[in-house]
Amino acid sequence: MEGLHIMPQEGQHQGREKAEWRSQARLWSVAMICIGLLSTCFIVGCVVTYQLTYGKTSTKLSQLHTYSSLTCFSEGTRGAEKVWGCCPGPWMSFGSSCYFISTERKFWAKSEKNCIALGAHLVVINTKAEQNFIIQHLNTSFAYFLGLSDPQGNGDWQWSDKTPYKENIRFWHNNEPNSPDERCATIVSWEKRGWAWNDVVCETNEYSICEMNKIYL
Ligand SMILES: *[C@@H]1O[C@H](CO)[C@@H](O)[C@H](O)[C@H]1NC(C)=O
Repeated sequence: MEGLHIMPQEGQHQGREKAEWRSQARLWSVAMICIGLLSTCFIVGCVVTYQLTYGKTSTKLSQLHTYSSLTCFSEGTRGAEKVWGCCPGPWMSFGSSCYFISTERKFWAKSEKNCIALGAHLVVINTKAEQNFIIQHLNTSFAYFLGLSDPQGNGDWQWSDKTPYKENIRFWHNNEPNSPDERCATIVSWEKRGWAWNDVVCETNEYSICEMNKIYL
C-alpha cells in the first residue's frame, strides 16, 4: 500500500521536473533567439557602417592596388577635404584624364585591347586643347592610333567610349579620311601641315595613345 502512495508522488515529481525542464528549455530557446537576433543586428549594423565609412575608401584602395605608383595633384576641395587627382606613375595628366603612349606598335584592335587591360581605352579627343596637349608628347616620326574607327567603312566614325563624333571636333588632315578600306584613325604629323588625323587600314602596326579617367582621392 505504501508503494502505491509513493508511485503517484514520484509521478508528480517527474511531471514537475519535466515541466521545469520544458520552461527552462523554452527560456533558453528564447534567449538563443534573442542572442541570434542581436548578433544579426550587430553584424548588419557593422557591415552597413563599414560600407558607409570605408566602402568608398576600399573601392579606391582596390583601384590603387592596380598601379605600382601614382602621381597626384591637388585639385581643389570637397567640403573641408582636399581633392587629389591622380594618374598612374608613367601616365601624363591633362584635365580629368590620364594618358599613356604605347611603347609597341600593334594593330588597332590589339591597341584598344591593350588600353582596356590597363583600365583605359584608346584616346578620345574632345577638344583642340586636349589634342594640343597630346601632340607635345608624340614623336613626329610616327603615327598613333586614336579611339576612332569606322567599323563598316561607310563614314560612320565612332569614338571608342561612345562619345558622339561631333562636327566641330574633327581634326582630319586635308582630304582625309579618303578610303572606305581605311577604317581606323591615327594622329600623324605631316611636314608643314603639322599634326592631324589620317585614316589607315586597321591591320597596320602603329603606336597608340591610351586615356583613362583620373583617380580622385
Ligand atoms: C623619334 O623617333 C626617332 C626614331 O626612333 C628617334 O631617333 C628620335 O630620337 C625620336 N625623337 C624624339 C623627340 O623622341
